[in-house]
Amino acid sequence: MAIECQRRDLVVATNNQHKLQEIQSILGPRWRILGAQDVASGLSWDETGTSFLENARIKITALRGHFKGCILADDSGLCVDALQGAPGVVSSSYGGVEGDHSRNVARLLADLRGVPESLRGAHFYCLILFSNEKGEEKVFEGKCNGRILESPRGHGGFGYDPVFAPDGYSISMAEMAASDKNAISHRGLAMNAFKEAF
Ligand code: IMP
Repeated sequence: MAIECQRRDLVVATNNQHKLQEIQSILGPRWRILGAQDVASGLSWDETGTSFLENARIKITALRGHFKGCILADDSGLCVDALQGAPGVVSSSYGGVEGDHSRNVARLLADLRGVPESLRGAHFYCLILFSNEKGEEKVFEGKCNGRILESPRGHGGFGYDPVFAPDGYSISMAEMAASDKNAISHRGLAMNAFKEAF
């Protein structure tokens, strides 16, 4: 599919200001990044999908009724080999409380107690779904392989960063500079794939 987009405005299906700034800095001035609240005040959605793609589509659909131009939705999570891909699409509520990163990390470490380093492989995955003003869609993906540490390290980043060491690194993602994380992260790779498509 040839992607066409007449407008430079890109609505991102999130209200997370940190994510909006991160996307603006990756894409540069060619796009004016807007959040969901900029075009549909009070809009919310339930991420009830069973796959990253389904969740991204739920977000696009929620916004489409309010905005006719280009929309981007991303969905990401941590997939752990020893847990058959969990927490996956439920990464943000794995510990029982939506968005409570400490509980999520605590449950993950409890689940992996006694699992040796050689079996603690995991990856972060990010799916970006882009929909242009004709409703044509394109998917972009990013993946970052690594392993789950025995205990949290570092204070940067968010989510599972303190317990995730990317392949080739002896430090956790929470110990990396933000620019270094963006260069290898699932979201950075997916966003760069999107950027290169235009
Ligand atoms: P979202 O789809 O970007 O909102 O991410 C869903 C959940 O996946 C987050 O709440 C985190 O638990 C986890 N996650 C996604 N990306 C990252 C990351 O870069 N570092 C750590 N955790 C992440």
